[in-house]
Amino acid sequence: MKGIILAGGLGTRLHPLTRITNKHLLPIYSKPMIYYPLEKLVQAGIKDILIVTGGNFAGDFLMLLGNGKEFGLKEISYAYQEGQGGIAEALGLAEHFADNDSVVVILGDNIIEDDLSSSVKKFERQPGGARIFLKEVQYPQRFGVPVFKKKKIVRIEEKPAKPKSPYAVTGIYMYDSRVFDIIKTLKPSRRGELEITDVNNTYIRQGKMHYDILKGFWSDAGTFESLFKANDLIRKKLIKGKKLFLKGKE
Ligand code: G1P
Repeated sequence: MKGIILAGGLGTRLHPLTRITNKHLLPIYSKPMIYYPLEKLVQAGIKDILIVTGGNFAGDFLMLLGNGKEFGLKEISYAYQEGQGGIAEALGLAEHFADNDSVVVILGDNIIEDDLSSSVKKFERQPGGARIFLKEVQYPQRFGVPVFKKKKIVRIEEKPAKPKSPYAVTGIYMYDSRVFDIIKTLKPSRRGELEITDVNNTYIRQGKMHYDILKGFWSDAGTFESLFKANDLIRKKLIKGKKLFLKGKE
């Protein structure tokens, strides 16, 4: 099982913050954003990790993370995505790295509380296919939204105006090695990108999609509101039970 973090894109929804850095290097309370998905992969026992990035500040990831020693890793692999071809295109760049293994993919702006270890184990026991994570959210129309029939996902709608369930498809995906063949069949969406939702719908049509529901908090951090929320969630988690606001120590 290999791990892939997708940290490309231009982060235009966060301008001007992202004019002088990559979105995934912005702070989430006490650490750069990319630390959180990286820590989640390591926590789940995944040591072979690729970061796909892009834009003008790709070199900064190397300066920040190096070979991943701080995370107990021997090395980190890096790939460069030119332009804004979408999440599925970025994942396609990982084919050589994956080398016919299955993959856990995390979007670099997803902040997750749950330990993913047990789901990774479940995925390893399932006969191939894919596994995604859902989370109930206040505004599902901002995300990929699953449509259910008797607790089974029959399709995912990307950013629907009228969501058919209260769940978001989060940016954590597990795929068998066939994902790279699926990506090659995709056509760009209306926003000109290869959509990860189209990959997931292919697995659903083939009856090979499973899901787990996240228990802890989850947020993406690609808009001002969600970036603020992600900071707040991590801050609250860190100060829980600790007296961080002792006089003179703020
Ligand atoms: C992407 C996916 C969407 C998913 C979301 C999770 O959206 O397209 O299906 O729910 O990530 O963070 P984007 O961030 O590209 O708008």
